[in-house]
Amino acid sequence: MRKILCLVLVLMLMVSAFGCAETVEPEPEEPEAPEAPVEEPEPEPEAEPERIVIKFAAQADSTPATQAVIDAFNASQDKYTVEWLDMTNDSGAMREQLVTSLKAGSADYDVLSLDVVWAGEFAASGYIEPIDQYMKDAGLKISDFNSGSMASGSYNAKQYVLPFFPDLGLLYFRKDIVSEEDAQKLESGEYTFAELQAMAETYKGQGGTEAGFVYQSALYEGLICNANEFTANFTDVSGGLAAMKAMTDSDATPEDILNYQEGDTHNSFAQGKSVFARNWPYQWGVIKSEGAITTDQVSVAPLPNGGSVGGWLLAMNKNSANKEGAWAFMQFLATAEGQKIMSTKGGYLPGFNACLQDADVVASNELLSMEGFQNALTSTIARPVSDTYAALSDALQQDIHKFLSGSQDLETTAANVEATIKAG
Ligand code: GLC
Repeated sequence: MRKILCLVLVLMLMVSAFGCAETVEPEPEEPEAPEAPVEEPEPEPEAEPERIVIKFAAQADSTPATQAVIDAFNASQDKYTVEWLDMTNDSGAMREQLVTSLKAGSADYDVLSLDVVWAGEFAASGYIEPIDQYMKDAGLKISDFNSGSMASGSYNAKQYVLPFFPDLGLLYFRKDIVSEEDAQKLESGEYTFAELQAMAETYKGQGGTEAGFVYQSALYEGLICNANEFTANFTDVSGGLAAMKAMTDSDATPEDILNYQEGDTHNSFAQGKSVFARNWPYQWGVIKSEGAITTDQVSVAPLPNGGSVGGWLLAMNKNSANKEGAWAFMQFLATAEGQKIMSTKGGYLPGFNACLQDADVVASNELLSMEGFQNALTSTIARPVSDTYAALSDALQQDIHKFLSGSQDLETTAANVEATIKAG
């Protein structure tokens, strides 16, 4: 029934000018009758009009999606060229790089990619331009986009961002290794981290794998996303951290799990080296574009206490010298055409709601209709909210990493973590 409804919606979208549907080619013109040759001087070759360069500061993408969307924008018009300033994948380090530039009033970047956890701070600091008027002129409404993403870039009743891609933490697992019974349990979300650890220990080594479970436990922002999940949104700090430490010390995880970021995780899983991996939707795109395994061997599930909400947003530098061009690119990337490319080429969850029903998106991003993914969507959890999020996160990272590496006890760590969250 859901499929039929989707199909109806898709058909409606295809006839509407706002869907992701292709535009209709104009009728070819009648060929002109050949004219008698006239002696004319050779015309000067027309110089390509100078294009205005729009600089896009965005993190490296392990899938082909970001490059494909930039190429599509550049091919769509002849006024602007987007140049991608490829930045670090470490959210905290990227924030610092951007703050240094924006604080100095620089116009080095026109369009910025911002993590949902610190976008509000950028708006409050006056680094980015409100986009309400641009949206209005383009006929776009807040409700056209992923609501959580839009909310994280709204400040003092003004809107500052459009979604680049919304994220949520997922458990990926090898369905060709895990039993049918365990797969069902995982997809329902009715399991604990202790059970996941036991499964990871059991299946490790099967099907050529070397690790049971991989996730993000290095000293950086990803650690907070994972700790948020282990501690059920910091409601069970002691129990959650104890479970995380047990996982760290167990045979389920690689020796160097405390250095793992997203890249280490997707390399391990997509190369067929691990049975379970915690990562974001883009990992689907990595498996498809460069995996040693195929997506037929993979399923996804909600994490035991829900997956952290993440994602990246597009904003305009307040000091950009090319605001019209910056907006043109933001609009392209965040609406039907751009989001369709992000989802079909990179596995990303579309931030433009109409794309969720687009036939091509649904057909080529299998992740979106999987049961485990649908269940994961209903149980997401946010990270702690703070005006000074970067400082809060840094303090939590230090304490948690110290504990996981064995240089601080559980009691002290839990007390510090609770006090840091309370202080905001
Ligand atoms: C992903 C998420 C982002 C998070 C980061 C942590 O990029 O989208 O919100 O902060 O991972 O590594």
